[in-house]
Amino acid sequence: MKLRNLINIKKYKNYHKFKSIKTFKQWQQDNPEGTFDQYYVYRVTEKLKIRDGDHPTLTLASTIKNDETSGESIFRFLIEHGLKSHHRVVDYGCGSLRVGRHLIPFLEPRSYYGLDVTDTFYSAGLVQIDSQIVAKRQPQLDLVDGNLVDQLQEDPPDYIFSVGVLIHIPPEELSDFISKITLLMSDKTAFILGTQIAKETDSTIHRNEVTWFHNKEQIESILAENNLIATDIKSGRELEEAKGVRVFWKIVKQLQLEEQPIN
Ligand SMILES: C[S@@+](CC[C@H](N)C(=O)[O-])C[C@H]1O[C@@H](n2cnc3c(N)ncnc32)[C@H](O)[C@@H]1O
Repeated sequence: MKLRNLINIKKYKNYHKFKSIKTFKQWQQDNPEGTFDQYYVYRVTEKLKIRDGDHPTLTLASTIKNDETSGESIFRFLIEHGLKSHHRVVDYGCGSLRVGRHLIPFLEPRSYYGLDVTDTFYSAGLVQIDSQIVAKRQPQLDLVDGNLVDQLQEDPPDYIFSVGVLIHIPPEELSDFISKITLLMSDKTAFILGTQIAKETDSTIHRNEVTWFHNKEQIESILAENNLIATDIKSGRELEEAKGVRVFWKIVKQLQLEEQPIN
């Protein structure tokens, strides 16, 4: 283990418990039918308990840290890129509503849709928002395979955004992940994807048990398969160790050319 990581870990009084967190392979032995996203939730939940809720984005009901600010810059960024209060917005992999808590009071009632693979994080995030705002704005929260998705497929949103999620999708599941989002898009939907990617376009970096910096070529080819095109809307900031780069892409459906009648 790198010295820097060890120092970081040692600041938690229960740091010795990190060793008890299972690797994906160990966890699969106990959960043979378990999927990777379920493992991700198990791992983050265990870490949150040991770290007493210290996590840059996620929280549990038992470990709430009242951080009102960390999602604000992303909220402002969405506004700079055209988001208006009358839009309907999907927050795909919404976690503990880090960005959602800024969007919910801003958007009209029933226009914020938070989707995630677990209700654990968004339930904990929801109680951090003023209950009067929640009652007035009625955020729609559901699982990625819940009923809300059927409703969104019939009536697609104006915006979908997904921040800090793609890095937790294994390379072999990327195609499925993007396809599921594509099903929620109409020709008018803008999908804002915020993620880190590998700096070398043709390599994938496996950062840790649940994190990848994917390679740009693979993502672009999956987007093309789904008839989507991406524009870079924020020039990438290089990450510390210069192996990765942070990007924000605006992804839209490529308009199909009308089929020409055969004479
Ligand atoms: C690092 S958190 C980011 C949460 C939130 N987007 C934010 O920026 O605060 C990653 C989130 O992605 C969710 N997630 C993991 N795999 C997913 C998948 N296959 N589909 C949708 N969400 C997923 C996790 O449950 C978690 O809430």
